[in-house]
Parts: sequence; structure tokens; C-alpha cells
Amino acid sequence: MKKTRASTEVLILEALLAAEGGAVSGVELARQLGVSRVAVWQQMEKLRAQGFAFAAVRARGYRLTTLPSLPHPALITAHLRGLGRACPLTLLEETDSTNDEAARQLAAGGAAPFAVLARCQTQGRGRLGRTWHSADNGNLYASFAFRPLLAPARMQTFTLWMGVNVCELVANFCGATPGLKWPNDLLFAGRKAGGMLTEARMDADQIRDLVFGLGLNVNSPAGGWPSALAGRAISLAEHTGAALDVNRFTAALIGRVLLAYERFMDGTYADGFAELWHRYDVLRGQPVTVLQGTQRVAGVALGIDDDGALILRTAKGRTERFQAGEVTLEKTGG
Ligand code: BTN
Repeated sequence: MKKTRASTEVLILEALLAAEGGAVSGVELARQLGVSRVAVWQQMEKLRAQGFAFAAVRARGYRLTTLPSLPHPALITAHLRGLGRACPLTLLEETDSTNDEAARQLAAGGAAPFAVLARCQTQGRGRLGRTWHSADNGNLYASFAFRPLLAPARMQTFTLWMGVNVCELVANFCGATPGLKWPNDLLFAGRKAGGMLTEARMDADQIRDLVFGLGLNVNSPAGGWPSALAGRAISLAEHTGAALDVNRFTAALIGRVLLAYERFMDGTYADGFAELWHRYDVLRGQPVTVLQGTQRVAGVALGIDDDGALILRTAKGRTERFQAGEVTLEKTGG
């Protein structure tokens, strides 16, 4: 990565994170950043006011002792730089929908890729016009904006590929592996932990703007769901019993999404993509019903093909493929 000059705030945080709990000299920081010691001290006072805490280590400098539990843009950026990545990032207290905000920024000519995050959304939405519960409760509402200039047909597998990547990241980060329900749900024990919504704008026969939206139930507490979602939704913290470091996680997510996008664009993702999906697929081998428009087809899910279509063996023994639709997992015996 070509490291662009970041803000003093980000650079200080990057140095403190790199020290992994060890002390960082204020004098050395000032020298490296080309600012005065007073400027370093002032910046650290600002960080203190935002939920960071530092311990002064005699003759050795500052040690980071407490991190904010809420998303903090400079901290996410510092973590991201530590991973060797950079990505312009907007973090909003509230927005209508991060997908809409990302689309507005693309329309205004913002340089892609970039990410938009919000602590809550007033009009968070999911597939098929559904509402996405978007309270300010420690969950993640994120959108990633790209300008792929790809033929629309290439996008068929995009959300599925992103889903595999989000699953792998969550599994590595939390030590608990989610399942994927075609085409866009992340589940823990049959309850929804996340959903993805990809939206595109076309230019002639190419996709000009692409927004990948992810709602991930990260740290919301058990019992905090509205009644319509109780027993159907779950957060990562609820599933694992431990709150996640949302800033470190968000940086890892951004890094992973950028890498996944690069692999999607250069085509290297295609090799083994369907097998990867099958690793997380909760439908494979299960009796399901697919609703497509007014048509309802029952059968056993066999997985996906290389184009991302869901394969179904119907009761009559026919094999059918679905590019779109709503799947219900049927209850099996007992
Ligand atoms: C679904 O499961 O139907 C998809 C849900 C996608 C929700 C995310 S939250 C961030 C982004 N902004 C939105 O309005 N929707 C997506």
C-alpha cells in the first residue's frame, strides 16, 4: 500500500496500537510526525475526551490503556493502516440509509472505493423492500462504494462472494462460524445475524456505481430486539457471550471487503468460490421452498452453481436453478 499522509490523530493512534500496550515516547512521536510535543499532548487530551485513556510511563512516554467502545473513525483508520490498508471513511451518528448516503457520495463524484458507516439508520432497508432494524445499539450498518464498470451479468455472484468473505472474517475474529442462507443472510443457530444488500446503477451496458451494504448484529444485547425480531435475530456478542472490539472488527471488515472486491474484479475469486459457499451453506441437503414472484417450488437444496444460482431437486426429481427468490427452510421431522 502507498501510505498517504494521515492526520496527526490517526498517526498517534497507529503508533500506540503498534506498541501493543507498550509505551510510546512523546518526544519520539513529535519528531516522527514533524509536530511539537505540545501538539502531541493536545491531541492526546482530545483523544482522552473521546473515551481513550493513557498511562504516563516515567521517562518512556504514553501507554494506551482504554479504547472507546463506540465506533471511532480515526481509530478504525489507524487499525486499517496497521493492516496495510487505507480507505476513505465516513462515520455518521445517524443517517437514512448508509446505502443511500454512499450512492449520494458516488453521485457527487466521490473517489471510490470508500466506506460509509452509521451508528443508526432511520430508513435502513433490506431485500424485497423490507425494513432493516437499525437502532443505535452497538450493531454495524456499513456500505462500501465502488465503480466497477462491469457487465451486469458478472454481478450475479457478487453478494454471495462477499457473504463468504464476511463469514470467514467473523469466524476468524470471533471463533464462531456463521452459516449462509442463500442469497444474502448470515445466521447463527437459525437466527439472523446479518444481511447484505447490493445496489447498482447502470450506465449503458455497464455497472457504473455499486454499493454493497452490510447490516451486522455485532454487540446488541440479548432481549433488546423488537417483538417481531425476538427469537429470529441474534448478535455476535449474544452468540459468543463476549462483546466485540467494534473498531478493530470494522477495520478488519473494511480490509477484507476491499480484498474481496479486488479478487472479484480480477476474477481470481471464481476458482473454488462455489465450494467455499458450500462450506457455510445452511440450506444444502435441506428441504426448502423457493418463492419466486407468485411461483412456489418445493424441493431439496443442492447448493449453488458457479453462477451463484440456487440448485433445487424438486419432488418430481427435476433439477431447477433459481437466480432470485425467497427461500424458506422447511422443518424436518420430529
Ligand atoms: C437483508 O437482509 O435483506 C439485507 C439487509 C441489509 C442492511 C444493510 S444495513 C447497511 C445498509 N444500509 C441499508 O439501508 N441497508 C444495508
